[in-house]
Amino acid sequence: MSDRYQLWGGCFEEEPSAVLRRLNDSLPIDSRLYREDIRGSKAWATELHLIGHLSTQDNEAIQRGLDEVEKQIEREISSKGRLYDSEEDIHSVVERRLKEHAGEAALRLHTARSRNDQSATETKLWMLTSFERVKNQIIRLISVMLKRAEQEIDIIFPGYTHLQRAQPIRWSHYLMSYVWAFRDDVIRLEEQGNRLSSCPLGSGAIAGCALPIDRRRLANSLGFQNVTPNSMLAVGSRDHIVEFLNWASLCGTHLSRLAEDLIIYSSQEFGFIQHSDQFSTGSSLMPQKRNPDGLELIRGAAGHLHGDTFAFNCILKGLPSTYNKDLQSDKEILFRSYDRLLDCLKVVVGTVATMKIDADKARGLLSAGMLATDLAHALVRRGVPFRRAHHIVGAVLRRAAELRCDLQQLPHHEYLAICSEFGTEEELRKIFSWESSVEQYTSEGGTSRNSVLRQIRELKQWLQNYNASICDNK
Ligand code: ARG
Repeated sequence: MSDRYQLWGGCFEEEPSAVLRRLNDSLPIDSRLYREDIRGSKAWATELHLIGHLSTQDNEAIQRGLDEVEKQIEREISSKGRLYDSEEDIHSVVERRLKEHAGEAALRLHTARSRNDQSATETKLWMLTSFERVKNQIIRLISVMLKRAEQEIDIIFPGYTHLQRAQPIRWSHYLMSYVWAFRDDVIRLEEQGNRLSSCPLGSGAIAGCALPIDRRRLANSLGFQNVTPNSMLAVGSRDHIVEFLNWASLCGTHLSRLAEDLIIYSSQEFGFIQHSDQFSTGSSLMPQKRNPDGLELIRGAAGHLHGDTFAFNCILKGLPSTYNKDLQSDKEILFRSYDRLLDCLKVVVGTVATMKIDADKARGLLSAGMLATDLAHALVRRGVPFRRAHHIVGAVLRRAAELRCDLQQLPHHEYLAICSEFGTEEELRKIFSWESSVEQYTSEGGTSRNSVLRQIRELKQWLQNYNASICDNK
C-alpha cells in the first residue's frame, strides 16, 4: 500500500489505479481552500469540545496544530507558488499535517463529519469572502464612470441604434447607461449573498449529525447567518454556485457590450476615444497599430463565462440526489469564472479610467440627419399629428437627397413647399443645434443636462450609502 495519507480504504485490498487517482485527485484545485478548510476544522473541533466529544487537551492540540499547518502551507505557497503535496485533496493534506503537529488528537477531528459537508461549507466560506472582492471592483468601476460622467457632461456625440446614427446624446448619458447596469449587478450579488450565507456543516455525508451538536452556534462561529435546512440538500445542492455563475455571465455580458462600444469608438472610423498605452497593445508587424486587446479579451471572456455556466448546469441536471463526485468540478468552474471576471473588471476599470475622449471629434460625427426626429417634434408642437409629421420629414429628407444637401442646408422655401407648418426661417434654424436637441429630452432618464445630472446625483447617493453600509458592517 502507498504511504499516501488516505481518509478511506480500510476495506480495500488494492490501491486505486494511477489514472483514477489522477482523475479523482482534487488538490491542485481545492488547495485554494486551505484557509477555509482550517477555519472550518477549528470551528468543528470547538463544537465537538463544547458537546463533550473532544477533551480540552485534544481540542487545544488541534487548535494549535491547525494554526501551525496554516502557517506551514502559507510559507510553502509563498515560496513555491502553490501547494505541492501527494495527497488526494486539501482535507487529507490538512489532516495528515495536523497529525504531525497534534499527534493522535488529529484522528478525532473528523468525528461525525464528512468531506461532503466539509467541502460544501468551505466553498461557501470562500464565496462569501470572494463576493466582496468582486463587488469592490464593480464599485471602483462605478466610481470611475461616475467621475467621468460628471466631468464630461458637456460632450455630445452620436447615439446609435442598429449601429446607425440615431440621435445626439450626452456622453455622460451613455456612461450612465452602464453605471446603472453595474449598480444592479452589485444589488443582485448582494441578494445572493443572503441565500449563500447558510452553513452546511453538521449535515454529515447525507443524514445529518448523530452527535448533539448545535448547528446554529457552529454556523455563527463561522460567520454564517443561517444553517441549511436539510442535510440531503446541503450536500447535494450547488444552486448557490449556479446563481453565481449566472450572475457572472450577466455581468460579463455587461462588460462585453461596454468593451465592444469602446473598441468601435476607438477605431479610426469613429476615432473619438483613445486608449492609454497601459491598456493597449501593439502589432509585431504594423508599427502604427494600437490595439484594444484588453477589451477584446473581455468580450471573449463573456463567452467563457456563459460556457462555464452552461457546462455546470449540464453537470448538475441529471444527478441523483445528494452528493455525487460529479460535483467536485464545482470549484474548478467557480474559481475559473471568478478569476476571469475579476481580471476583466480590473482591466475595464483601468481602461475606462485612462482612456481619452476627443470631444470635438465626437461632435464632428454628428450629422444633421440625426435631427430629423426633432423636426418631426417641431411639427407636433404646432399641432401636426405625429404620424403625418414623420412622413413630412421623410419627404424633406428625400428632397434634401435630391438636391444633394443635408437638412440644415436645405432652403427654407423647400421646407415650406412640403409643409407650411415649419414656421419662420429663424424658428427652423433653432432646431439645428445639438445643445437644444439634447436639452429637449427632459423626461426622467432622458439625455438633457438636468436629467443626466439627476441620474448622477442619484447614483452618487447610492454609492455613498453603499460605502457607509460597508463601513458599518466592518
Ligand atoms: N473533493 C470532493 C469535492 O470537492 C469532496 C470529497 C467528497 N468525497 C467523497 N468521496 N464523498 O466534491
